[in-house]
Amino acid sequence: MSNSSPPSAIVLYGRAAFDQTQNLTQLAARLHEVLQPDRAGCRITTAFADLTGPSLPDVLDALAAAGIEDTTVVTCMVPADPSLSTWLAGALSQWRADRGAAMTVRLAPPVEQAIDMAAAVAAVLALPAAGDVAQVVPSLGKPGWSKIPEHGRQVFFCVGARCLHRAAEPLYQHLRSAMKSHRALAAGPRRVMCARSSCLYPCNLGPLMTVHPDGVWYGGLTRERIDRIVAEHLLGDVRVEECVVHAAVK
Ligand code: FES
Repeated sequence: MSNSSPPSAIVLYGRAAFDQTQNLTQLAARLHEVLQPDRAGCRITTAFADLTGPSLPDVLDALAAAGIEDTTVVTCMVPADPSLSTWLAGALSQWRADRGAAMTVRLAPPVEQAIDMAAAVAAVLALPAAGDVAQVVPSLGKPGWSKIPEHGRQVFFCVGARCLHRAAEPLYQHLRSAMKSHRALAAGPRRVMCARSSCLYPCNLGPLMTVHPDGVWYGGLTRERIDRIVAEHLLGDVRVEECVVHAAVK
């Protein structure tokens, strides 16, 4: 791309949930070097899909306000997630429709992982396949996403800084796999909807999870405690008293 080309930008889009914040920022700097001199005037920036900003709409708003005419979004380091990639094209198209934006927005094929990510992203950008999202029906979500799924309980598992320091992430993965081995927890009235949360405040009691609507807070989680909570509380409806750090109803 020569310097007389319209002002353009590349947005590297990743999930903070997979702790890629730092890597994505480093990747943007490295990509800037790799793309010299062909895209010398091209802005390279980052946006996050969850947990932290800036969000993609915020970044696109800023680029449009800065007079950028052509932006390519590349999804990076996101483990294969068909629901995200299918949704993203429609959501970008919706952004253009909502803003009445003149800026062309393209969606490049995703780059999930590579030894040299910057080279892999540069290769993807060289492909003719980056589709203009104007060709996609604007949509922020499927109609089914307006329905609240049938469930009996919700679990919020803290992955805030202090709990993460106490191994919350592998414990959360343990909870998910322990639940997967019980079909009753995956569908129907006993289904448990599970979400990671940021800090729930009593950090010294972590790692921590809450079970609702029971109003039970479990602390000091270990694999063994999680196995008991799954077996006795989520399946057996009896809370595990020795792990309870707070309960709405005594
Ligand atoms: S980080 Fe988990 S309660 Fe604060």
